Amino acid sequence: MAILFHSGPSSAQRWRPLLAELLPQMEVRFLPDIGNPSDIEYAIVWQPPDGLLASLPNLKLVCSLAAGVDHILHDPTVPAHLPVARLVDPHMAEVIAEYVAVQVQFIHRNGLIYREQQHRRHWQEHRQPDAGARIVGLLGLGRLGRAAAERLRLLGFPLIGWSRTQKTIDGMECLSGEGGLDTVLRRSDILVCLLPLTAETVDILDQSAFERMKPGSALVNCARGAHVADDDLLAALDRDHLSGAVLDVFRTEPLPSEHPFWSHPKIVLTPHVAAYTNPGTAAQIITENIRRAEAGQPLLDLVDRAVGY
Ligand code: NAP
Ligand code: GLV
Repeated sequence: MAILFHSGPSSAQRWRPLLAELLPQMEVRFLPDIGNPSDIEYAIVWQPPDGLLASLPNLKLVCSLAAGVDHILHDPTVPAHLPVARLVDPHMAEVIAEYVAVQVQFIHRNGLIYREQQHRRHWQEHRQPDAGARIVGLLGLGRLGRAAAERLRLLGFPLIGWSRTQKTIDGMECLSGEGGLDTVLRRSDILVCLLPLTAETVDILDQSAFERMKPGSALVNCARGAHVADDDLLAALDRDHLSGAVLDVFRTEPLPSEHPFWSHPKIVLTPHVAAYTNPGTAAQIITENIRRAEAGQPLLDLVDRAVGY
C-alpha cells in the first residue's frame, strides 16, 4: 500500500520529510516514480495530469493540496465514486483574509488611482470616503469568504454576501439565489470573488454582471480566473464603468506575456498568491484524513461531486 504525491518539485522536497514523520508506516511515492499503480491507495495532488487518478485501480481517496478542487474535477476520467477531499486549513483562511484586507483597503484608499497618477507624475488629491461608506460584497461565504468577511468587518466596511444556500452571519447581510446575486452586484462598491469554480459559477463575472455593478465600483478576484470573462472585464474598465480590478487568478497561469491585463492601467495583478498551502499545517490535516480512511472513520471535507465543490 502506498501514497502518491504530485505537485511541483520544490513542494515535493518540503512534503517528503513531513509525510515520513506523520505517516511512518506508509510508503510515499513522488510522481513520476509511481511504481506499480495497483499499490497506490491515496493520492495527494495539485493539478494532476488528466487520466492519472483513473489509472490507479486501488485508489481510495484523493486529497487536494488546495482549497479548490476544479484542478482535479475538470478531468472527466476521475471515477464518479472516488472520494475527493479538499484542503480546509485555518492557516489558509488567515492568509486569504490578509490578502483581501490589503487589496480592499488599497482600492478603498484610491490606490489604483494614485498608482496611475504616479506613473504620469501627476499630483492630485481625491475625496476619501470612510470605510463605513464603502460596501464590500463577497461572492462566496465558505471557509475563505467568511474569514475575509470577518477581517473586513473589523476594518469597518459594511458587508453584503452571497452563497448558494442561505446563510446567517453576524454583522453582514447574507443573500442567495439569482435575486441575491443581483442585489450584491448592484450594491457593492468593492466586489470580492471567493467562489469555487463549478459549472454554475464559470464566467459568472461577465458583461451582464459588470453592467449591474455600480458605476465606479471595483473587483477583487482571488478565486479562479475562469470566473471572469476577460474581454468583458476589459470593456467595463475601458468605458470607465468599473474603476479597477485586482486579479490574483487567471484562465491561463502563468498569465501569458501578451495578455492585455499585464499593462492595463486599472489592473493590479498578483501571481496566484492570495493564499498558499502551508505544508506545516496542511500535512497534519491531510494525513489525519488518511488515518481516518485507514480506521474506517468518516472522512473530513469531502467534495460533493454533484455540486462540484
Ligand atoms: P468553500 O468553503 O467551499 O465555500 C464556497 C462558497 O461559495 C460557499 O459559500 C458556497 O455556498 C458558495 N457557492 C458555491 N457555488 C455557488 C453558487 N453556484 N452560487 C452561489 N454561491 C456558491 O470554499 P473556500 O474554501 O471558501 O474556497 C473558495 C475558493 O477560493 C476555492 O474554491 C478556490 O477556487 C479559491 N481559492 C483561491 C486561492 C488563491 O490563492 N487565489 C486560495 C485558496 C482558494 P454554500 O455556503 O451555500 O455552500
Ligand atoms: C489555491 O488556489 C487553492 O485553491 O487552494
